[in-house]
Amino acid sequence: MKAIQVGLLGLGTVGSGVVKIIDDHQDKLMHQVGCPVKVKKILVQDIDKKRQVEFGKELLTKNADEVIHDPDIDVIIEVMGGVEHTKEYILQALRAKKHVVTANKDLMAVYGTELLDAATENGCDLFYEASVAGGIPILRSLVDGLASDRINKMMGIVNGTTNFILTKMSKQGSPYEEVLKEAQDLGYAESDPTADVEGLDAARKMAILARLGFSMHVDLEDVSVKGISEVTDEDISYSKRLGYTMKLIGIANRNHNKVEVSVQPTLLPDYHPLASVNNEYNAVYVYGEAVGETMFYGPGAGSLPTATAVVSDLVGVMKNMRLGVNGRSAVLPQFEKALKQSDE
Ligand code: NAP
Ligand code: HSE
Repeated sequence: MKAIQVGLLGLGTVGSGVVKIIDDHQDKLMHQVGCPVKVKKILVQDIDKKRQVEFGKELLTKNADEVIHDPDIDVIIEVMGGVEHTKEYILQALRAKKHVVTANKDLMAVYGTELLDAATENGCDLFYEASVAGGIPILRSLVDGLASDRINKMMGIVNGTTNFILTKMSKQGSPYEEVLKEAQDLGYAESDPTADVEGLDAARKMAILARLGFSMHVDLEDVSVKGISEVTDEDISYSKRLGYTMKLIGIANRNHNKVEVSVQPTLLPDYHPLASVNNEYNAVYVYGEAVGETMFYGPGAGSLPTATAVVSDLVGVMKNMRLGVNGRSAVLPQFEKALKQSDE
């Protein structure tokens, strides 16, 4: 039985988790798609670096072409981060008729439509579930599970690093800088954590959620953003005394054809369900006209939770490969393409 061969771009926090899940859950993957899954080549910056996963160094390369243009590789998994070079790699992969899975919200928030168009034009899948809320399958829930409903509001905690920082500052009185360092060591923060603490990472995720939830194009520039870097110990201790909890909250509201999306530190009464979402956990409320209120909760960052979303996307790609429907039945690309056409 021919194995599906996968090429990875990146082998850091998420990439290591992807390799581990493909290895540890091979039986489940076989059951899902009926053939083995094999990681053939991995792009890294430093071949000699000590890794969390053990395997032969011959799998590693510093040459992106060896991964993207390997004729045996069917699917490229992009977990290296960054925007301009990753966009170029993904476009090259799609033009070479490789399906792509990415965890990159920086990229999808800005170039999502262009990349999804390229995927459709090349008959390829481009899935990005891990880009929002780590291990919570929120994108598929919006476009699939809630496909029949009209969604008017989404609200939630979509950045694990800032939630981790605010939780530790509030519950343990830990200093901001110390907890930020801990979040970095645990692999929750971006390589440059500015986007986390200044709210931009949450804004990117809210823009992606708003597009998919409201079936409308939402520009990242239109999202109003304030992060937590100016939140002080005093702010947190006063709010605690008054019975409130400080959280970085993203809100996306639709009123007819008008959409407002924002991210800001918010005081929630302690009894509010989002007030008890702690550490790196995320939660997203989705208000649908028919369904009412639904809440999605789970780990929003970290190696294995995020890799679960990535490998589940890989399973989706492989199922489409078996059915011969890549780039056509794929829920997310087709959906965004339809959104773009309705905008025009
Ligand atoms: P990371 O730990 O910093 O790993 C990045 C990996 O990419 C490393 O293996 C690095 O190689 C490689 N890399 C980076 N730039 C490269 C370049 N120019 N050429 C070749 N290799 C390069 O990052 P991460 O936390 O896994 O995040 C990866 C992506 O997933 C990002 O888009 C991030 O936003 C997203 N994401 C992360 C999380 C999370 O919890 N961490 C959750 C959801 C989404 P070396 O190992 O040799 O340095
Ligand atoms: N840095 C991100 C966070 C990773 O803390 O939420 C998950 O997208």
